[in-house]
Amino acid sequence: MNIFNSLGSNYNLKFALKALFAQNKKLYKEELIDFLEKKYQGKAILAYKGREAIGLAIEILKLPKDSFVAINGFTCYAVYKAINNEGYETELLDLPRSSDLNFSAETLEQSLKRNPKIKVVIIQNTLGYPCDIEKIAKICKENNLILIEDLAHSVRTVYENGKEAGTIGDFVVLSFSQDKIIDAISGGALIIRKNKYQNHLASQGKTLQGRQQTIDRLYPLFTFKIRKSYPFGIGKFIHLLLKSFNLLSKPMNESFYTKYDLPNWYCSLVLHAFDNLEENLNHRKKIVGIYNNMLEPKISYPSTLRYCIFVENRKSLIKSLKDKGVYVSDVWYDSVDDNIKNAKVAANTILNLPTHKNVSEDDAIKIAEQINIWLKSQ
Ligand SMILES: Cc1ncc(COP(=O)(O)O)c(C=O)c1O
Repeated sequence: MNIFNSLGSNYNLKFALKALFAQNKKLYKEELIDFLEKKYQGKAILAYKGREAIGLAIEILKLPKDSFVAINGFTCYAVYKAINNEGYETELLDLPRSSDLNFSAETLEQSLKRNPKIKVVIIQNTLGYPCDIEKIAKICKENNLILIEDLAHSVRTVYENGKEAGTIGDFVVLSFSQDKIIDAISGGALIIRKNKYQNHLASQGKTLQGRQQTIDRLYPLFTFKIRKSYPFGIGKFIHLLLKSFNLLSKPMNESFYTKYDLPNWYCSLVLHAFDNLEENLNHRKKIVGIYNNMLEPKISYPSTLRYCIFVENRKSLIKSLKDKGVYVSDVWYDSVDDNIKNAKVAANTILNLPTHKNVSEDDAIKIAEQINIWLKSQ
């Protein structure tokens, strides 16, 4: 068994070939914009990354310069940095407990009392687990705050009130980058749902360099090859080699905060991922069901992007899984700010298990068995 949390988690050979030969037709972009505008009921702007879409939203809002944007304290550095790049401060909202994933409505309320300069709130439904949207949206309305739903992890997540994520906020941010629910190697979109902002001009996206596009096109094939040859020791070598020549597409790169237009061929992959979304989510739910049935103590959320558990001695569990060919050291979030106490503990104790299409039901059973063996040994 060779399973990776990331490293082309959503791709198979068919997808790798699709990416390699995807055509650069304008039609794909038009189709994608039309699809997103209908689905999320607003005006869509495409970007090369989700973080650029966050930057675009902040730019369009033209907030007073001393405004704050409230975000989950347990988040991706890219979210935090996208806001800073636009010249605004973030208010990091802590998790209620270190085994939670999203900030609570109560925390938002308290922060607003302390900091009346908060003008925007971004929710993110971490790993697909829904936040308390009803209360949060109510607070935003009462305080005249802009609500942004960041669906990087949570396309098709359904809130407790039965509404689909992306149908409530003033803006919706999407990420189509590697390892996300909708994975087109890279991509992002901003949907401006609030009429008032639909005619506000955002800066024109730059043209993405050809080299970056080539690296992206090759990423699914390279990662497929690495994964397939890992059991023979060759995969590790290819991985190192490609990394050392900067030939593997990386999610973190300082230049990705510049706003780029999304080239047409990525749009065809986004449309393809939306076409296969239900099948993808059904698979993820089956895998989540296996973890939920087998893992003791029951700790987790029925999240779909990854299944998370919280463990004290995480390093040891990562090693124990690695010995069985399961590579889960990519835990997604480091602590953005050590002063955000529960988020810091969560960042140090979370371990997320893969649910993607390259994990079979048998693999999930083996992973859960190994975790149970490790838990008993503690
Ligand atoms: C919640 C959240 N929003 C946005 C992003 C940024 O997405 P992208 O990598 O497409 O810029 C991330 C990155 O992982 C994320 O976790």
